[in-house]
Amino acid sequence: MTSAADAPAPHERLFTHCAQVVTCAGPAAARRGPQSPEGLGVIPDGAVLVRGDRISAVGPRARLEAAHPHAEVVDARGGVLLPGFCDSHTHALFGRPRHAEQELRAAGTDYMTIAARGGGIHASVRDLRSRDEDALVALGRDRLRRLAMHGVTTVEVKSGYGLSVEDELKSLRAIRRLAAVAPLRVVPTFLGAHEIPLESRGDAAARARWLDLLEHELLPAVAEGGLARFADVFCEPGVYTVPEARRLLQAAAARGLGLKLHADELSPSGGAELAAELGAVSADHLGAISEAGIRALAAAGTVATLLPHTLMFLGKTAQAPARALLEAGAAVAVATDFNPGTSPTPNFPLVLTLAVSQLRLQVAEAVLAATVNGAAALGLAHETGQLAPGFRADLALFEVEDVREIPYWSGDHRCLATWVAGRPAWRSPGYD
Ligand code: NIG
Ligand code: FE
Repeated sequence: MTSAADAPAPHERLFTHCAQVVTCAGPAAARRGPQSPEGLGVIPDGAVLVRGDRISAVGPRARLEAAHPHAEVVDARGGVLLPGFCDSHTHALFGRPRHAEQELRAAGTDYMTIAARGGGIHASVRDLRSRDEDALVALGRDRLRRLAMHGVTTVEVKSGYGLSVEDELKSLRAIRRLAAVAPLRVVPTFLGAHEIPLESRGDAAARARWLDLLEHELLPAVAEGGLARFADVFCEPGVYTVPEARRLLQAAAARGLGLKLHADELSPSGGAELAAELGAVSADHLGAISEAGIRALAAAGTVATLLPHTLMFLGKTAQAPARALLEAGAAVAVATDFNPGTSPTPNFPLVLTLAVSQLRLQVAEAVLAATVNGAAALGLAHETGQLAPGFRADLALFEVEDVREIPYWSGDHRCLATWVAGRPAWRSPGYD
């Protein structure tokens, strides 16, 4: 019999030869309000010691090398090592791309008009319904691999292109299978209320039947099957109203799901206020949030998740009021919103570029929004999002010498490798 004392010590690896280690270390909670560069915790010529799946020490290279001479060396080749990005808002389980819509928008037909004509989300719904679970898993695997190659180590994936009992459950089962096979950590969200299905749009009675089905059939099946960690609703004029979103989210909370909300994306309807009222973990989009909404999020501690690539891709000139949110004391996260309609990009560093150039975040604010605050937007701030002893070894290595270059090299691919819980999740062919 082997006792604990005889068990081999967990394997130790020293990530070293880093131009900078960017720790983002601090409280295991969202950073609220404006952030200074010191908040990034940059260690020049730093190193990180990983034991099994956890970080066990972080500090200057010379000290860690002396203290751990037998650790296996992982050579960072003079790059910047930072916590892997937490992409806390994606719709990464989808079928066909929707490239035709970008030309329609360019010719003057806006996003909501395309949807009202049966395109937009409805087009992705028709497509997803035609595919079986295996096909969705295969597509999803490729999409998650692309996120990992851009530095993402934790990803939230929403359902919402099924919009029927059978197709929503199929989507969530596919997401569960992805969680088992993907190299990233996957957090599933139930977004059955992503649109009103076309077949339920005819009249008030049909809409009421769909809402009843969501609340009394789908939600119980999702909760009992343990198929989602969060529930979300697209709360927007023309989609779900504030009272409908309140009803669905309250029912989800009663079944133990955490809450997220697509709020005030294109017009202000009180979505942010609702997210705050219900204690949602995040309110997302917020392109048209009101003053009252800003104050409500700051007071509630609900993370404001901003998705700058989405508004840019839709051709909008205004972005969410990130600075006003920070000045009010809110926590801001950024995410890709990776989806086939409004944000077909897995390029997380590009989102950081937009966070600085469009949202006017400082680099420290943008990086914390992508790491600690992204983790907080998934209820995972105690586990990931920073390089500190005891946290999961979720790491991203970039081929740059200064963290400020990550948002600077706009649209470039500089990620050399990502590790999730200490295991390689993606590796650039040039880095082996
Ligand atoms: O977050 N706004 C709603 N949902 C997605 C878009 C989904 C789609 O167009 O397929 C979003 O932008
Ligand atoms: Fe979204």
